[in-house]
Amino acid sequence: MHILFNRYQETRRKFLTRAIAAIAATGLPAWYEKEAIASERALDAERPRRLGPNDTIQFGLIGCGGKKGGFRQGLNDAHAAASKAGCKVVAVCDVDRTHCADAANEFGPGTKQYHDFRDLLADKTIDAVIIGTPDHWHVQIAIAALRAGKDVYCEKPLTLTIDEGKKLVRVAQETGRVFQVGSQQRSDPRFRLACEIVRNGLIGKIKTVTAHLPTGPTGGPFQPQPVPEDLDFDFWLGPAPADPSILHGDVIDDVIFNFWRSPVAEPNLLPDYFPERVYGNFRWWLDYSGGMMTDWGAHHNDIAQWGLGTDHTGPVKIQGFGRGPTIGVNCYNTFPEFDIYSTYADGTVLHTTNQGENGVTFEGENGTVFVSRSRIEASDPKLLTTPLPPNAVRLYVSNDHMQNFIDCIRSRKETICPASVGHRSATICHLGNISLRLGGKILYWDPEHETFHNDPVAEAMLSRPRRRPWLL
Ligand SMILES: NC(=O)c1ccc[n+]([C@@H]2O[C@H](COP(=O)([O-])OP(=O)(O)OC[C@H]3O[C@@H](n4cnc5c(N)ncnc54)[C@H](O)[C@@H]3O)[C@@H](O)[C@H]2O)c1
Repeated sequence: MHILFNRYQETRRKFLTRAIAAIAATGLPAWYEKEAIASERALDAERPRRLGPNDTIQFGLIGCGGKKGGFRQGLNDAHAAASKAGCKVVAVCDVDRTHCADAANEFGPGTKQYHDFRDLLADKTIDAVIIGTPDHWHVQIAIAALRAGKDVYCEKPLTLTIDEGKKLVRVAQETGRVFQVGSQQRSDPRFRLACEIVRNGLIGKIKTVTAHLPTGPTGGPFQPQPVPEDLDFDFWLGPAPADPSILHGDVIDDVIFNFWRSPVAEPNLLPDYFPERVYGNFRWWLDYSGGMMTDWGAHHNDIAQWGLGTDHTGPVKIQGFGRGPTIGVNCYNTFPEFDIYSTYADGTVLHTTNQGENGVTFEGENGTVFVSRSRIEASDPKLLTTPLPPNAVRLYVSNDHMQNFIDCIRSRKETICPASVGHRSATICHLGNISLRLGGKILYWDPEHETFHNDPVAEAMLSRPRRRPWLL
């Protein structure tokens, strides 16, 4: 026991040294860096010690990704978890047999392999799961995991539809499990500082927040290919439509209508297979994701919400202007270019656009702050060099997103990005896409009840039919 304790302490020390080095590398002003390091030390002191072998948190990874393409984000997250003291990845699950076997190899001999996430969830030795599947699977698997008593780290964008998010938030509350959304910008002290400057009124009342996202790709028509033998394409599709005859909706004057359709007409038919539909490319298909709007929007709209202090509410009016989705059968169908204006009840406008340097700009009556993954800049540089006053509003401190999840598994406290927050951030992206898909229609949203005001067409787009047996 004594040896284990010492080893644990040593690993913690190594972790702390690494965490502090990571903070120091952000290039933040000295005062803020000092505070971030102090908060990391204070958090470390609070972290309960794990004294015995039974305390290891056992992780299962669902949706690994791999060498065929995509970001392997599930694997990235799982390696982050495995690198933490007292944590082990004991099982992996993927509907692609090669990805599954390769992932198991990365975590060493004895790592269990599952094809069906329900079997992994039935494994009582697993305490927590990481969900790195494409977006159309997130909520289904997350709800099943919560109900199976697992703590959940789920990648962003948390949801595919707004109604899915409402359900997930309810189940997360009912089950009381720990939930972290993979919006890791919340654990970057640069983004926290920008939001604290805004929250403390240091640039005056905020007029506009601009979320600058990349431009999405266009592509297609793609040529059908045989489904690879190691991929269970039917399982990959899951709740998404399978009937190729109704896969592409109606296009009128470059506006895509009628995308919500019955996916159950011919349950045995599959859409054409080509690699541009899977392996990371799912992002550019409305059936599985929401394009750049949800891919990067989930990150930067999330920071806008954090800065504005609107984590549990949202805008009241949304209008989107989009350009350039490829029109045709077997073509990417998400909007690569867009300008979405989401107005909050106090008149603040969140402008989500594919223009400008990747990052978030807060524009107040007295100045601006720009923040990205590589830098923070203020119109008045003194805003960055002057420490915040002792009575300033301070935000939740996390300097390592996976460590925050793990700490919360142990303490049973709320994570920095729980399901309710991830749901609201994703909602802003979905509202933008709904306006785009309705040809730039102005939408009036009631963020309290999460419904539209007298708009049955938009209301129908809050959810979509699900292919059996994958009902929620
Ligand atoms: N937080 C971030 O910065 C960040 C970065 C990249 C990706 N992501 C998110 O991570 C997720 C995955 O993205 P990616 O590019 O790694 O995708 P990917 O396509 O490379 O990997 C997804 C994997 O999930 C598997 N899969 C699909 N359905 C499954 C199911 N029902 N059960 C088990 N496995 C299943 C696929 O076979 C594939 O191996 C997306 O939601 C994406 O938005 C987040």
